[in-house]
Amino acid sequence: MSQPTARRSFIALSSAAALAAIGGCSILGREDESDTPRGKTSQVAVATDSSRMIVVYFSVPETDKTTGLTEEEENSVIVVDGQALGNTQYVAQLIAQDTRAQTARIETVEAYPLDHQQLIDKARKEQDDKARPQIQQLPDMSSYDTIFLGYPIWWSDIPMPLYTFLEQTDLKGKTIIPFSTHGGSGLSGTPEAIAGAASGATVSDHALSISRDQMDGAPQAVTSWLSELGL
Ligand SMILES: Cc1cc2nc3c(=O)[nH]c(=O)nc-3n(C[C@H](O)[C@H](O)[C@H](O)COP(=O)(O)O)c2cc1C
Repeated sequence: MSQPTARRSFIALSSAAALAAIGGCSILGREDESDTPRGKTSQVAVATDSSRMIVVYFSVPETDKTTGLTEEEENSVIVVDGQALGNTQYVAQLIAQDTRAQTARIETVEAYPLDHQQLIDKARKEQDDKARPQIQQLPDMSSYDTIFLGYPIWWSDIPMPLYTFLEQTDLKGKTIIPFSTHGGSGLSGTPEAIAGAASGATVSDHALSISRDQMDGAPQAVTSWLSELGL
């Protein structure tokens, strides 16, 4: 895959500014209020058989345009080989390329709006309602031992369709390795949230987290992270 052609045109935001930028209001207080069950992550040894690995990801690129993107669209999209990819989608592709693992995208039955404000509002309501949006069928996870699980941070948490996936899939005995992109808040405790929702799975404590402002460095970040994992 060649290097992205679109570059972030704005400097890295502080956490508070990034959070304000996603929805016009601060959500810093929400982490303390969260009653999402948080589990324990662990150091994991990763088996190297790529046929037993899969990269499962969720990503919502806010446009399919490749030029003339607004700042909001550019926050969520990276243009690679003339294609508009979501930030997390791009990282998923890099991991798959390096590991030769399969990929599968978590897609909801009801598509998310591309309009930024509508997307923000819908995601917020889903979180407030503890919704479990219906998702489309994914490949049978029994064929895999290791799941790289990718997602954007949404309101300091994993997007609710991730909970649907984690709760409705038999993940007993699997190793889950989280990776994420974000607008300033880092992982926000999401590996622990995954561990709390993925019954019987072991969740790696060595998650990858990439800021949307640093997507240009994603290929190098992915390669060194995989090598730290022994891959
Ligand atoms: C609904 C919504 C909520 C978000 N909440 C946060 C947040 O709490 N913290 C943060 O750092 N970024 C937040 N972001 C920014 C995304 O995590 C970031 O842009 C990410 O790279 C998008 O990935 P994607 O293009 O793969 O969907 C949010 C974005 C959206 C659309």
